Amino acid sequence: MIFLTVTLFSRNAKVYHIPWIYTPVRSVLAIWHQLTKAEIPELAKCSVLMRDRSRVEDTIYAMQRAGAGRLQVISDFDMTLTRFAHNGKRVPTTHNILDHRLLIDEDCSKKIRELLNTYYPIEIDAGRTAEDKLPLMVEWWTQVHELLIQQRIRKDQLAQAVKESSAMLREGYKVFFDRLTEQQVPLLIFSAGVGDVLEEVIRQNNVFHPNVHIISNYMDFDQTGVLRAFKGQLIHTFNKREGALSHASGLRVLQGRPNVLLLGDSLGDLTMADGVSEHQNILTIGFLNDQMDERKELYVKSFDVVLVKDETMEVPNAILKYITSSTDNKLDA
Ligand code: TMP
Ligand code: MG
Repeated sequence: MIFLTVTLFSRNAKVYHIPWIYTPVRSVLAIWHQLTKAEIPELAKCSVLMRDRSRVEDTIYAMQRAGAGRLQVISDFDMTLTRFAHNGKRVPTTHNILDHRLLIDEDCSKKIRELLNTYYPIEIDAGRTAEDKLPLMVEWWTQVHELLIQQRIRKDQLAQAVKESSAMLREGYKVFFDRLTEQQVPLLIFSAGVGDVLEEVIRQNNVFHPNVHIISNYMDFDQTGVLRAFKGQLIHTFNKREGALSHASGLRVLQGRPNVLLLGDSLGDLTMADGVSEHQNILTIGFLNDQMDERKELYVKSFDVVLVKDETMEVPNAILKYITSSTDNKLDA
């Protein structure tokens, strides 16, 4: 009976701070809480960096106690759900998948690559502020989208281009998508990439489940299926906050879910949850794929959990499994 009481109390946040609990009992509870903190062994991997491990664990426990019904997951796509590199070669982003002979000519391909070589180093430059980068990102995206429109890309050829590309989701992606579906947790993919290509990548990997919602740059095709424009307000890496406030906040499936697990690879991704009203717990996970030494400090300051050169979903999956484990127990009972 005493053991049962202790166990129940340890699940309850910091009850050992309550003054009327007899001091030795409080000590036991504090020790128990510390001991149960090691329940996610993946967090001890050397590729995992945390500014404040205790806060991370407390947030995860709070989310676990609230259960899957109170959770939403917001994730970036390129280089977050997709791999950064494979066998020493860069994996293409949704924009780069369009660099296919079926869709664009050699001259256009060359120009898009030159733009990538000019602007990508700016995007990830730790020495520049987001405000500094913002107009340059608008320049990059606008020029690329104009070039793509000039190519009169055909909608019916996108699937083939994706099939023949080396696009690759991170190892463990299936567990991630399937678990969220099983637990009926909405997944909002918030991408500055190309929505039509993104959809095709997840469709071809058999994970475009009904709980997946996407905010991205969608192509606008004319009646004959030829690209004529991009729809709506442009989304780039550093204006996701605006998209979060104007689009994500209005999504009904996300209402009543104040706990957020956020995944990204860019500092701009941190604003993807800005549209969540009355949020209670937000845990941010950042993939540090490139320029590790230059950006490590900044990433550790900015994300709760930083995954250094980790091409897998192992850590997000372990956290997700833990958070949704109370629902498993309920289902088992
Ligand atoms: P994300 O928001 O899904 O990560 O997509 C944005 C990424 O796309 C960003 O990191 C830069 C990348 N990108 C390209 O690779 N090529 C391009 O032409 C453009 C405009 C962006
Ligand atoms: Mg990204």
